[in-house]
Parts: sequence; C-alpha cells; structure tokens
Amino acid sequence: MKKIIAVSNQKGGVGKTTTAINLSTAIAAMGRKVLVIDLDPQGNATTGLGVEYDAREKSIYEVLSQQVDIKESFQQTKIENLFLIPSKVDLSGIEPELSNVHDRAFVMKKIFDDSNSLDQFDFIFIDCPPALSLLTVMAMTAATSVIVPLQCEFFALEGLSQLIKTIDRVRQNLNPVLNIDGIVLTMFDKRNKLSSQVAHDVRTHLKEQVYETIIPRNVRMSEAPSFGLPALMYDQNASGSQAYIALANEIMKQNKTQEAA
Ligand SMILES: Nc1ncnc2c1ncn2[C@@H]1O[C@H](COP(=O)(O)OP(=O)(O)OP(=O)(O)O)[C@@H](O)[C@H]1O
Ligand SMILES: [Mg+2]
Repeated sequence: MKKIIAVSNQKGGVGKTTTAINLSTAIAAMGRKVLVIDLDPQGNATTGLGVEYDAREKSIYEVLSQQVDIKESFQQTKIENLFLIPSKVDLSGIEPELSNVHDRAFVMKKIFDDSNSLDQFDFIFIDCPPALSLLTVMAMTAATSVIVPLQCEFFALEGLSQLIKTIDRVRQNLNPVLNIDGIVLTMFDKRNKLSSQVAHDVRTHLKEQVYETIIPRNVRMSEAPSFGLPALMYDQNASGSQAYIALANEIMKQNKTQEAA
C-alpha cells in the first residue's frame, strides 16, 4: 500500500522542505518510486529539485482547480525514481477559489482516490506551507500520516500543541486513518547548549514519537537548493545528507512494522 506523508509544521523555516526533498531522494535511491507534491505557493521544493519556473505549467494549482489531470502533472526530476508535482505562486489563489465549495477539505483526497495513476508510487511526500490553512488541511485529509520537522531552538515546542490539535481534529472529522509517524529534530547544533536542551526536552515530552535520527545544522544543506539539487546529490558525504539517509532507513523500518501490524 502506498504511503502518503504530509510534512507539516505551521512554523516557518523549520526544515519541512529540506526534509521532504532529502527523505524522498534517499528513499528513491533505495529503489522505491517516490512522488513529491509541492503544496507551498513559495515553490521551494520545486526550486530545490531543479525545476525552472517555465517548466511549471502543469502544477498542483492546475490539478487542484481541475484544469489538468493529475496523471499529466508528474515531472521526472534529475533523480531516478523521483517525481514531482511542481508548485508556483498561483497556488495561493486556490483557497479563495474554493471558499464556496462545501467539502473543500476533500478536494485533494477525491483527486487521489479517483486516479489510479498514483498507484505506481510507493511513497508520496506532500511539502506543506507554513500555516494551518486549507492547503494543509487538504494535505492531512488526503494523507496516511504526518511527519513533523521540529527545529532545535527555544520556541520549538510553541505551536506544536496547536499542530497536534489540528491533526486530532482532522482525524476525528475528515480522515480517521491519519497518524503522526514521527517528529524529526532538525538543525541541531552540537556546540550550542540550547540545541541539546531542546532536543532533550522534546524527547522527554514526546518520547517514542520522536525519531532517533537528529538532523544536524550543516551549511551544505542550505547551499544545495541554489544548485537545484537535494543536499544528498550535492554532497552525499555531508553530515546532513548522511542524517537524512539514516532517517530514511528509520522510516522504512517503521513502515515495515506498520505494514505487518
Ligand atoms: N539541517 C540544516 N542545516 C542547515 N540549514 C538548513 C538545514 N535544514 C534546512 N536548512 C535551511 O534552513 C532554511 C529553512 O529550511 P526549509 O526551507 O527546509 O524550511 P521550511 O520549514 O520548509 O520553510 P517554510 O516554512 O518557509 O516552508 C532553508 O534556507 C534551508 O536551506
Ligand atoms: Mg518549505
């Protein structure tokens, strides 16, 4: 069964896009077929995967507004087994356009359910925007689980309870199968005491919900997008890249356990 993972946190700049891009690259390198859906009007995942602005005409906006069939929107990236539905700034117009649609939270789920073209993928990652907006709720309604990147900084836990409440509400009202697969600590700086303290506190509070792998702060991770490459392709040996490979292994293992259950 394919997994549809929404990478979500309403806080900005916590590593959602970096996590979506590099996890999907690592899993594609393991021989699984992976789709990234860029659901952020900022289009950072699209840029980070090297798709130029001119090549974005069949974007997630056209899919959600029913102008393009989803099966026409998959773009092969430079990475084998890794496909993308790109995003561009038009996507910010979808929320007002759908404001009168009664079951707008289900728009994405319906498109997924009505198309067998998604069956070719083993994993689908949805890179959510930094807001608990309709786009995020649509992603959570269509997803099978959520991964939450959490930056190792002082305000990390602030907002997390609101995010968890939103996920609970989506589970109760819109998508009974939705679960949090895990919380991933990002941009960890081992020289910074606060970073270690935050990581420790998050583990104390959220226990086994937190992935063992911690993503370190690593300059190669922030350089990679300007080359239109996942960090994993830009510099595979960088500490951040290696951490995303470890996280991918952890998620594959978790997935096996979930499938067996
Ligand atoms: N492990 C890391 N080490 C160093 N820089 C990182 C790391 N992870 C992400 N960054 C950088 O931090 C910034 C924010 O990361 P990213 O874009 O992944 O966050 P985001 O949560 O998707 O942001 P937004 O909320 O704007 O969508 C980017 O410039 C990115 O390159
Ligand atoms: Mg982002």
